[in-house]
Amino acid sequence: MKQRRVAVIPGDGIGPEVIEQAVETLALLSEIDALGVEVAFFDLSATRYLDAGVALPEVTFEALRDHFEAILLGALGDPRVPDMAHAEAILLGLRRRLDLYVNFRPLRLLHPRLSPLKGAPHVDIALFRENTEGLYTGAGGRLHLGQPHEVAISEMIATRYGTTRIIEAAFEWARAHGRRRVCLVDKSNAIRAAQGLWREVFEAVAPRYPEIEARHLFVDAAAAAMVLEPASFDVIVTSNLMGDILSDLGAALIGGMGVAPSANLNPSGGPALFEPVHGSAPPLAGLDQANPIAALRAVALLLGHLDAAPSAARLEAAIQACVEADEVTRDLGGALGCAAAGAAVRARLSRA
Ligand code: NAD
Ligand code: IPM
Ligand code: MN
Repeated sequence: MKQRRVAVIPGDGIGPEVIEQAVETLALLSEIDALGVEVAFFDLSATRYLDAGVALPEVTFEALRDHFEAILLGALGDPRVPDMAHAEAILLGLRRRLDLYVNFRPLRLLHPRLSPLKGAPHVDIALFRENTEGLYTGAGGRLHLGQPHEVAISEMIATRYGTTRIIEAAFEWARAHGRRRVCLVDKSNAIRAAQGLWREVFEAVAPRYPEIEARHLFVDAAAAAMVLEPASFDVIVTSNLMGDILSDLGAALIGGMGVAPSANLNPSGGPALFEPVHGSAPPLAGLDQANPIAALRAVALLLGHLDAAPSAARLEAAIQACVEADEVTRDLGGALGCAAAGAAVRARLSRA
């Protein structure tokens, strides 16, 4: 049997709780479907960073890069590390250093009951967030620290190369999945250099996909339209920070932070990183209240990456059945804890 190696980083806060459910479910599916998944745990977390002084040791980075097909991450974020230095090295570091330039965040409503909107409109949006440039590169700095004339600059970086490849990835995915519309979301009316380049590249790439309707919205209007007419969106492609914000807005449209997964990919190959969209939710940590569905859906994306699409589809179906049966955590109106909600999904997989 082919071995598939998956590195697991539980992380901080609710990360370890939701990841425990995710890993148990991955192991169950691997056993039932003979997938040959081998899991290795990596303690990369705020506690480890505070103890060791290093967030991501170089040997660990090299191991993740060279020996694994996929990485599953819980979440990072701890009040003891207020500047998120460890997340910069681990999460943003892996995205950049593994060149995971596609942040794919599918936003699909599992059940009308989970919609916060009147009439529960259809939501099935594929959000493509640029993941290596934008306002996230660290370019810039601070001068005259603590002085009244202190200056702080964070530059927005857009390269033709980086912009072209994420826009192409969105169109390629739309084509491969029979999706009809790709919408560029930007702020080129105000951020004229960096976002003007996005508009130009989008207009150059779109005609190569004549069967797909290409449209454009400014991000402020897009945020309103996602709430008022979410069914009008199919695929969205956008820059790093705008994608971050719109993915939480999109998560809210499908049931909240507890249900939205995320894949960080390089379509040319190499390991990919899977995680919930949500963070470490410190107030929920250790209470067995976190919803494991976002992490379980991240496992479904991971299984797709491991060429196990049928297993991924069965996992999504089992999650959907649990939502329909109200076998869910409190954020979704159920009565289960994190572990019981994960077990409910696994019970359906075992019976199937
Ligand atoms: P958050 O996503 O952790 O929490 C936002 C809200 O969603 C909170 O009300 C929280 O209780 C709720 N929530 C989140 N996940 C949930 C789940 N699985 N089940 C039920 N409710 C859930 O965002 P935040 O509070 O802004 O950030 C907390 C920490 O996480 C910060 O340090 C932040 O930087 C970090 N963060 C990390 C990641 C990541 O590692 N990928 C993502 C986002 C935020
Ligand atoms: C996310 C998170 C991260 C981001 C933070 C933790 C740096 O919010 O993955 O959505 O902004 O990319
Ligand atoms: Mn985010």
